[in-house]
Amino acid sequence: MEIAQKFILPGILFLLTLVFGFWLSHTDKPLNPVLFNIHKLIALAMVILTVIQFSKILKGMNAQALIIVLLVTTALCVIALFATGALMSVGKLDYEMLHLVHKIAPVVLAVGLAAALFLLESSIRSL
Ligand code: HEM
Repeated sequence: MEIAQKFILPGILFLLTLVFGFWLSHTDKPLNPVLFNIHKLIALAMVILTVIQFSKILKGMNAQALIIVLLVTTALCVIALFATGALMSVGKLDYEMLHLVHKIAPVVLAVGLAAALFLLESSIRSL
């Protein structure tokens, strides 16, 4: 529970990122620059806070291999989200394909982070 509390603000920012993402998706093209930038900046703040919290928790800890695998997977999802988001905004590559990756990555990200937090919480409790 203690660990989960550290992720309340990043969690709220994640939800706000989703809200602005769906809002952005439901507005006409070209993309609304205000919504686009709000979506991008909230996502950036969420990523920075999440990384800070995880680095504090993992410092000096011998984390299980599965936790590391989950965190690497979520990091790859973040990279995919920023890359596809940027490419969609400039209209490069296949928009539909980028959009599909941008819709799947948040689901994998949320599941991966939740599982990593659950495992971290349980391994700290069992110490
Ligand atoms: C953790 C980070 C992010 C998450 C979780 C996220 C999530 C989402 C979601 C759920 C949507 C709505 C997709 C739909 O159903 O149509 C969306 C749309 C969008 N996002 Fe993100 N996003 C993130 C980061 C970014 C970044 C960094 C950028 C830009 C560099 C970006 C650019 C866009 C664009 C352009 C759309 C509109 C796509 C369209 O409908 O045409 N996103 N995002």
